[in-house]
Amino acid sequence: MFLAPSILTADFLHLGEIIGIINQSEADWLHLDVMDGVFVPNLSFGFPVLKHIAKATTKPMDAHLMIVEPQKFIPQFRDLGVWALTVHYEACTHLHGIIIKIKEAGMQAGVALNPHTPVESLTDILDDLDKVLIMSVNPGFGGQKFIPHAVDKVRRLKMMIEERKLPTLIQVDGGINLETGKRMTDAGADSWVVGNSIFKTNNPEEMIKKMKR
Ligand code: DX5
Ligand code: ZN
Repeated sequence: MFLAPSILTADFLHLGEIIGIINQSEADWLHLDVMDGVFVPNLSFGFPVLKHIAKATTKPMDAHLMIVEPQKFIPQFRDLGVWALTVHYEACTHLHGIIIKIKEAGMQAGVALNPHTPVESLTDILDDLDKVLIMSVNPGFGGQKFIPHAVDKVRRLKMMIEERKLPTLIQVDGGINLETGKRMTDAGADSWVVGNSIFKTNNPEEMIKKMKR
């Protein structure tokens, strides 16, 4: 199971320390939630902040773009050293073209699905994807309640991936804790994104260890 802590709800006054904790932990990737106030009703952080994070992190950067027209920024994310770039199905008119551009830029290409978007919408693009991110909350904010229907979506997506014998990974994001995460893993998820359950505890390192086990 690949664990990707999301710093969205961490204390940004202590970003350096938080990146340090993640560097020293068993976490696999660093999840970066980028929001534009258009695709989602919230703003998070952009390149002025990301360039410092990129210098400080030793983990592969897993960027989740909750923005319209993500294709505009593919070169900047590549220059930042981002390892995996995930765009939203609902934000991309020419999804196939965008996925090709991300791969040509040398990054892993992912597509995220909002809670209402069926996994079957990926039928004609699944073979081109390195990763699918199933949202188990409506994107925009950390600390929301897990939407149980997402478990069924993971199960259906896993069947599609296995039928075609693809290496595509399934990542889950939103309201993941030890209990909901286990349900997602049992349904076929390969990676958890976790914000609040790690950073709103007294001991983030310990929670990362527990989750990896
Ligand atoms: C939500 C983001 C998530 C979120 C996860 O829009 O994509 O990555 O920050 O946070 P928790 O684990 O608190 O739901
Ligand atoms: Zn995310």
